[in-house]
Amino acid sequence: MSAVDYDTLIPNNVDLSSDARLKRALEKWYPRYLDWWKTVGPEGFQDCEVYLRTAVSVDRDGWAKFGFVKMPEYRWGILLAPREEGRKIAFGRHKGEPVWQEVPGEYRAMLRRLIVIQGDTEPASVEQQRYLGATAPSLYDMRNLFQVNVEEGRHLWAMVYLLQKYFGRDGREEAEALLERRSGDPDRPRILGAFNERTPDWLSFFMFTTFTDRDGKMQLESLANSGFDPLARTTRFMLTEEGHHMLVGRTGVARVIQRSSEVMQAQGLTDPHDIDSVRKHGVIDLPTIQKKINFHFSVTLDLFGAEVSTNAANAFNAGIKGRFGEPRIDDDHQLHDDTYPVEQVVDGGIKHVDMPAISAINARLLDDYISECANIVTSWNRIIAEHGLDYELQLPHRGFNRQVGEFSAYCISPTGELMTESDWARMSTDWLPSDDDGDYIRSLMKPERRAGHFAPWIAPPRAGIDGKPGDFEYVRITA
Ligand SMILES: [Fe+2]
Ligand SMILES: [Fe+2]
Repeated sequence: MSAVDYDTLIPNNVDLSSDARLKRALEKWYPRYLDWWKTVGPEGFQDCEVYLRTAVSVDRDGWAKFGFVKMPEYRWGILLAPREEGRKIAFGRHKGEPVWQEVPGEYRAMLRRLIVIQGDTEPASVEQQRYLGATAPSLYDMRNLFQVNVEEGRHLWAMVYLLQKYFGRDGREEAEALLERRSGDPDRPRILGAFNERTPDWLSFFMFTTFTDRDGKMQLESLANSGFDPLARTTRFMLTEEGHHMLVGRTGVARVIQRSSEVMQAQGLTDPHDIDSVRKHGVIDLPTIQKKINFHFSVTLDLFGAEVSTNAANAFNAGIKGRFGEPRIDDDHQLHDDTYPVEQVVDGGIKHVDMPAISAINARLLDDYISECANIVTSWNRIIAEHGLDYELQLPHRGFNRQVGEFSAYCISPTGELMTESDWARMSTDWLPSDDDGDYIRSLMKPERRAGHFAPWIAPPRAGIDGKPGDFEYVRITA
């Protein structure tokens, strides 16, 4: 494996200097990327020094270096995890054959589609989070937002590298189109629904990084064992960065819950449903946090695609996209005769139905995802219980508020009851954030820019970034 070359315009460990055509193509794309970053990336703060980590190596230890950098000067590099000599395809009909270093002709269209869909989510989330800097509850949080943003930018680079290197003219066109679609734009939206939703406040940001970045993780994990080796190596390194995004989300929501619980306890408020009394103290009530979970979880489930899916079966069979933790699964990795239980609506009830496992790849990934999310909600509930409050946050039923897959044609409550459309519509205001809820949350979004201080609706973090003390100035705000 070549070392990371930091002397060139585009830091990389893919020996870019020996591929003149690719180098030219990427250098041509770079100013267009910067233009995109400056127009629809973080609003403001582009001239501020931000304490960011930059990937400088792909060694498991010491892969990142921390330091102050202005965002437009961030070194967005192309970094692939080390090549494993003699790696074999781990699943599907080519199982046991050597992995591919070039795109197999028969799978070209499939691979291109998967890479473009993954690539599209990266700039989309940066666009969605564009306005959050102005209302950051602390410099610590502002820095975390920008860290997530620059790394999503790097993930876009990762996918654009694959497109430009392996897909010729089509790849170059796709790389351009990735900079042209816009989150939420009616004429040229981003490809997937959840990436066109708004991220209007910081609770939404923490929910998004908890639930939607975690979908990203599951997708990357499924590609990390791909038979197309450059894709596997790219996604493996992206996963290193993804961990921080999800941590920002999980601990962000935890800090909101912590603060609300502390205030309720201090004020002697014992009824979490007495929203007005809680809001009087300038914190976010638990039922509204529940509604935000319901929203972000359900729109994220749609990103997994239909539970029973021929596309997913084909990608598995082809050895392109596997299952979560594929090498650790104890079966033949070809799924000739296996079945997998999929939740479906049958005769007016929701039941598990055994389906051919090969068709149920997405259903299985969804199950893995939901079990991780359930653990997170349990950890949040611990904070509430520690404050002596009688309230439990819940993940809604997987069929709740779905637009894609098995449940898209049904109206299902958060606890999993089938309902009529009119009952669902009437009840949905109790389940999903209302305009009033949004207005209230936004009314709290007042910036806190003094180092070591935090907006009153959120608790400080347990530890700083890179071992820094509580009053560290993570962003040097210039006037
Ligand atoms: Fe990403
Ligand atoms: Fe991410």
